Amino acid sequence: MPSHLQVAPEQLPGFLRGLPKAELHIHIEGSLEPELIFALAARNRVSLPYASVDELRAAYAFSDLQSFLDIYYAGASVLLTEQDFFELGWAYLLRAKADNILHTELFFDPQTHTARGVPIAYVIDGLRRAGDLAEAELGIKVELILCFLRHLDEADAFKTLEAATRHIGKFVGVGLDSAERGNPPEKFERVFKVARMMDLRLVAHAGEEGPPAYIWSALDVLGVERIDHGVRALEDPALVQRLLKDQIPLTVCPLSNIKLRVFDTLAKHNLRALLEAGLVVTINSDDPAYFGGYLNQNYVDTFAALGLEARHAVTLADHSFRASFASAAQKSAYTERLQAYCAGWMK
Ligand code: ADE
Ligand code: ZN
Repeated sequence: MPSHLQVAPEQLPGFLRGLPKAELHIHIEGSLEPELIFALAARNRVSLPYASVDELRAAYAFSDLQSFLDIYYAGASVLLTEQDFFELGWAYLLRAKADNILHTELFFDPQTHTARGVPIAYVIDGLRRAGDLAEAELGIKVELILCFLRHLDEADAFKTLEAATRHIGKFVGVGLDSAERGNPPEKFERVFKVARMMDLRLVAHAGEEGPPAYIWSALDVLGVERIDHGVRALEDPALVQRLLKDQIPLTVCPLSNIKLRVFDTLAKHNLRALLEAGLVVTINSDDPAYFGGYLNQNYVDTFAALGLEARHAVTLADHSFRASFASAAQKSAYTERLQAYCAGWMK
């Protein structure tokens, strides 16, 4: 008889936690925990409009993406030195290790920092130092993806790309984030064209709050290889066909979608429908310090709410490696780790 995965319902959280996986959609500034915000504020003599960690956490009640972004950019204002960015990155990577993440691609928002006079070198070098240390000491492969803030203009994005050219080799690609509605991908067509000429990998947030038309233009105008979120794709059957044809991955963030009211509850999330449509969906944490959980929490809570099973988890983990910007050799090594893990659960 062929062996197959045997994971009893009460064993499922343990199976999910131990699963080797990649995380492809995590804003490193969104992993800044209130405790670290207060510690850095004290060290850097930055004043905060909150009296305590508890008061800050109590403000984490969001009505939509913009209401979150206002607090998220305020939180990032305590980051000033290269060491701050190193500590931010390292704190996340320790969490990643605990979640059995083998490979992670970290988004960072340089404009949030350069607008305050922080040199882009501090941002990139601090995060790269954390990434290199994690590769050496934790066995986690770390890539960086520079994101442009889409509420700012094209000229600011070009200035940022230009400043980053001295750091080529330290980041693998560029992305597009911040306030989606009213800031369609085509606003950055020329910036992405230059990034592509620089051999950078391309991703963009689309279809989180914005319409399916933004997913189309992220693909057709920007030429991105992955869509961040993309949950609104299901509103457009022709778009689903396109995503299937080109095997475009969607980096879905379930807990984020609940906190930012994209879906009312986790039980109403369309992750199962996306999987059943055959799409290359992955699970990610987005801004874990703000949305109530790191990657494993996203897996465990989503599986419980949607009644997903171990086989779905293997598909999601496999997608996370396939959708990554790892080399072909790295991808096979990750897949082997996944297969070895599953072999331990075969009966
Ligand atoms: N920046 C950080 N988190 C984001 C999200 N969920 N959407 C757009 N921009 C972001
Ligand atoms: Zn995001």
